[in-house]
Amino acid sequence: MPLFPDSWLSELLGKSDLVAIASEYTQLMPKGRRLWGCCPFHSEKTPSFSVTPDNQLYYCFGCHAGGSVIQFMMEAEKLTYTEAVKSLAQRAGMELPEEMDDQKLRSERALKERMYAACKEAAMFYHGLLLSEEGKAAQQYLIRRGVDSHTVKSFGLGFAPESWDRLTNHMFSKDFTKEDLIAAGLAIRGKSKDGCYDAFRNRVIFPIIAQNRRVIGFGARTMGKDIPKYLNTGDTPIFNKRSHLYALNMQKGKKLSDLIMVEGYMDVISLHQSGIDNAVASLGTALTQQQARLIKRYAPKVYISYDGDAAGQNATLRGLDILAKEGLDVRVILIPNGQDPDDYVRQNGKEAYLSLKDKALTLNGFKLDHLMWELDMNSPDDRETYAKKACAFLGTLQPVEQERYTPLLARRTGLSEAAILKQCGLIKTPPENRTAPNRNIKENSPVLRAEASKAEKELLACMLKSGDALVLAIEEMTEKGVRFCYAELMEVAERLLVERTRGEEADIRLLMCGFSPQTAEIISAAAGLCESIEDPQTAALECVKAMGKSALDAEIKELAGRMAVGEDVKVKYMELVKKRALL
Ligand code: UTP
Ligand code: MN
Repeated sequence: MPLFPDSWLSELLGKSDLVAIASEYTQLMPKGRRLWGCCPFHSEKTPSFSVTPDNQLYYCFGCHAGGSVIQFMMEAEKLTYTEAVKSLAQRAGMELPEEMDDQKLRSERALKERMYAACKEAAMFYHGLLLSEEGKAAQQYLIRRGVDSHTVKSFGLGFAPESWDRLTNHMFSKDFTKEDLIAAGLAIRGKSKDGCYDAFRNRVIFPIIAQNRRVIGFGARTMGKDIPKYLNTGDTPIFNKRSHLYALNMQKGKKLSDLIMVEGYMDVISLHQSGIDNAVASLGTALTQQQARLIKRYAPKVYISYDGDAAGQNATLRGLDILAKEGLDVRVILIPNGQDPDDYVRQNGKEAYLSLKDKALTLNGFKLDHLMWELDMNSPDDRETYAKKACAFLGTLQPVEQERYTPLLARRTGLSEAAILKQCGLIKTPPENRTAPNRNIKENSPVLRAEASKAEKELLACMLKSGDALVLAIEEMTEKGVRFCYAELMEVAERLLVERTRGEEADIRLLMCGFSPQTAEIISAAAGLCESIEDPQTAALECVKAMGKSALDAEIKELAGRMAVGEDVKVKYMELVKKRALL
């Protein structure tokens, strides 16, 4: 959301005092390092809303509202981000960043043209290198992953050599300047003799191509164990990863009945190579509303096909919400054994994947599944809990849908269909709730809201507190294959990492400007935990361990549930139980 320049936002934040503004909504009393009051966002009698003057953040321990003064204004006055910024500017007596005049627009356009040209030149350079003698190791890597030469060409894959200046020198020879390269994200400002160095080194390159068929950015995967596993072009004047989708350019001009949304570059590539050529991926971020809108221009129906692990399934929940809100018909493809689409289609082939697609769950089917995640369906108590929750949910649906899922619930719970229907009838929701599910995040049905866990918040706190803990934790997560269930936190971590490599202290409030209010809440909660952490590195490792454990637990439970209904997953189950014991 780089609508306003960072420097201007910094000044605005400097001039906006959260304590003064929040005091207009609630009476604040000092206690410790914070000020406390009754929360303006939910009704309560004892104060659980707090403002920390030091970092200018607020957080409510009751309803978990949190953020900087910008999120506060959004929530208190029901404003959009832009409106909130504008209203703060007015208060602070600051002019809005000046509208760009014609002259400026023209030079801006010229700059963009140079960037398109630079990205195109770089993509050709990387592609040529991959096909050359020098690209042998990268070719081998792609062969090992089952990527054939036709696919290498159709996706324009490339190779960035292990060098600080190969690309830069090549681009200089084509008359691009240091500033062009830095602006396009191809080089990073540094102290070398040319003042910059290559952004991608010793990585396989995935060019990202926009709907206007121009190369706008790159994903770059390490062939070894470097972190992060993928480096992506950051925001540039021609590229914003929240508003593009990988491989959507290949869907142009096709008549599509549906699209398949996957998580990764390699998932898209493997599916295409197997003949399933309507797969697209978001670019290393959680799915955004903008992307959902884009999808809707191409197809009325979308299948979410994320990784089969717990993090993937949590991302599915959030993705569903966003896609359904755009009015898309959404289905969920479930992949067994925690595999991702790439693993699955390479191992089992196109037909097997398409039959998973045929069996895809509807939105409501998936929600009914999701209600089982935390439960042990072998235990009578948990089955009863499930019956109650599931019926409460069914009760909010139309009678025809209730009928449709009744046999399934009867099977899962061991209750009679009559009992299920009766239980559903007990729950009456006001009709307006039936038609408008997600007016805003706060009102989301609790079923769909994937939350950051305690360990995740604490880990983020460690990352905010110490750069060493940040790097250590990301290394550990990469090595152990642990992910945030709340996917956007990985992006927050990466943003912190980038700022650290630039040698800058992260400004938490500016950081929040780039994320949804929901994520800002979590960042705010984490910032509040910072003081209580004494040894951030040790604490970070503990958190990663806890996250790994709970992901495994979720998988184990899911498998147990499937064994209970007679599926043959015992081997995998035992394997995970052993792995869990070793943690
Ligand atoms: P995954 O970790 O699931 O990777 O990340 P993958 O797609 O299965 O990759 P392979 O098979 O190991 O090569 C899914 C997507 O998340 C983004 C990338 O877009 C990736 O394709 N990602 C992941 C990043 O941007 N950075 C990372 O460090 C990791
Ligand atoms: Mn993969």
